[in-house]
Amino acid sequence: MKQMINVALPKGRLGEKVLNIFETVGYDCPSIHETNRKLIFENEEAGVRYFWVKPSDVSIYVERGAADIGVAGKDILLEYAPDVYELYDLDIGKCRMAVAACKNFHDNTERTLRVATKFPNIARDYYGGKGRDIDIIKLNGSIEIAPILRMSDVIVDIVETGTTLRENNLEPIEDIVPISARLISNKVSYKFKNEEITTLAAKIKEYCLNR
Ligand code: PRP
Repeated sequence: MKQMINVALPKGRLGEKVLNIFETVGYDCPSIHETNRKLIFENEEAGVRYFWVKPSDVSIYVERGAADIGVAGKDILLEYAPDVYELYDLDIGKCRMAVAACKNFHDNTERTLRVATKFPNIARDYYGGKGRDIDIIKLNGSIEIAPILRMSDVIVDIVETGTTLRENNLEPIEDIVPISARLISNKVSYKFKNEEITTLAAKIKEYCLNR
């Protein structure tokens, strides 16, 4: 018997793009387009149930098996290192993780570098690899303010268009890693719903390659 696939979708612009891909390849769900505040939608015929969750929580739902699969940014996967399978790079939601600073910034390597970020593990790994001492200032948003107010020397954050940096007189100084959205799977689900998940992943891959 065909089993339902539970999908964690990242709420927001990326999620809308992801849903569009899933629906185009055969996992449509008419009820998800009704205007309401519901968070769970299913289409039994298509064998799919969708949940809207915070983008940074997708990997938690998938790791714990509440969702069989989901779509998460590589930034989240690098930061939280969830125990999930990364099935496919959807090549959407593209941006980069970068170090940025005020335009006149000069690094004094004699001193500990103060780094403001939402991604302490990525920042720690990056500077650890360079042997640079840092002091992490963990923030939850609006990271760009930290160097402007001289609370940090640099930020480690996502840069997409670069507009936020430019409009705050900051500039990217080092690229850390390119980021894009990844299809991920719970490890147990991958075994027990293997046919359903591999079929879905293959359809998505085919769509992405031909788009
Ligand atoms: C991200 C990031 C930057 C901005 C970069 O923030 O933290 O602030 O997008 O995009 P840009 O290069 O196109 O300007 P997000 O919109 O996720 O909001 P947040 O700071 O509240 O997390």
